[in-house]
Amino acid sequence: MPDVDGFKEAKKFHTDIPQKTEGFFLKGSNAYDWGLKNRLARIFNPDTGRTVMLAFDHGYFQGPTTGLERIDVSILPLIPYADTLMLTRGVLRTLIPPSVTKPIVVRASGGTSILKELSNEEIAVDMEDAIRLNVCAVAVQVFIGGEYEKQSIINMTRLVDMGTRYGIPTLAVTAVGKEMARDARYFRLATRICAELGAHYIKTYYVDEGFETVTAACPVPIVIAGGKKIPELDALKMAYNAIQQGASGVDMGRNIFQSEAPVAMIQAVRAVVHENETPEKAYELYQTLKNESGA
Ligand code: R5P
Repeated sequence: MPDVDGFKEAKKFHTDIPQKTEGFFLKGSNAYDWGLKNRLARIFNPDTGRTVMLAFDHGYFQGPTTGLERIDVSILPLIPYADTLMLTRGVLRTLIPPSVTKPIVVRASGGTSILKELSNEEIAVDMEDAIRLNVCAVAVQVFIGGEYEKQSIINMTRLVDMGTRYGIPTLAVTAVGKEMARDARYFRLATRICAELGAHYIKTYYVDEGFETVTAACPVPIVIAGGKKIPELDALKMAYNAIQQGASGVDMGRNIFQSEAPVAMIQAVRAVVHENETPEKAYELYQTLKNESGA
């Protein structure tokens, strides 16, 4: 029994200070529950509202991708510079030290390989395991216009339902089939469908014409994938344009880990995303860091 006699009466009610009721910083996310918001606030930097996600989940359908042959060698040095890591649970458990405290977005769809029809995916991670892994979000591929369009959308809505129960956001990844036009019209369609059906944020590709209409029409944050490797300055220009046109960050893989100097490149990407640095200045930073490292 506590010593009631020693109880000090609380006096500081600050009756002159109204309690703050702050809106949540992230687009479209104000009505979510605390745990879900807290996970999003780990993925997206609350100061800038943006994120640099490092994507290295490519092996889930294409095996040892160039640059990811030895994740322990190539990716671990990049982790300090990433806001968020996107990867499979297999790589997480086998290669990422549990002492890493960066937020994890786990690839939660799968079941196909580059040898077959890619849109024929299913949910491939149980929500209970995602919780066990202490992830901040689950990621699912959505193939709008693809052969298994409906199945992939339902994978997403199931993850949204299960994740919402436990406060875990769902990242919908818009996958573009070879036969589909990569234009603003397609990405408006794909991203909007994902948002309408409950995705908490969406990964899509940047397009040169009309990308600002994609972000404007999507009520939740959009991050861009990097896509295939292009010259570093071009990748920085793409990231810059996407950010200036309303993207909330990047989920970039090959343009970082396939760079000649990945540690320098991820820092240059950070400058563009979090400091609004111009691509030219960020490229200067890349070259300086690259030269210093002797890469
Ligand atoms: C692709 O399906 C993977 O999920 C990657 O996470 C995604 O494509 C982003 O990586 P990259 O920047 O290499 O395109």
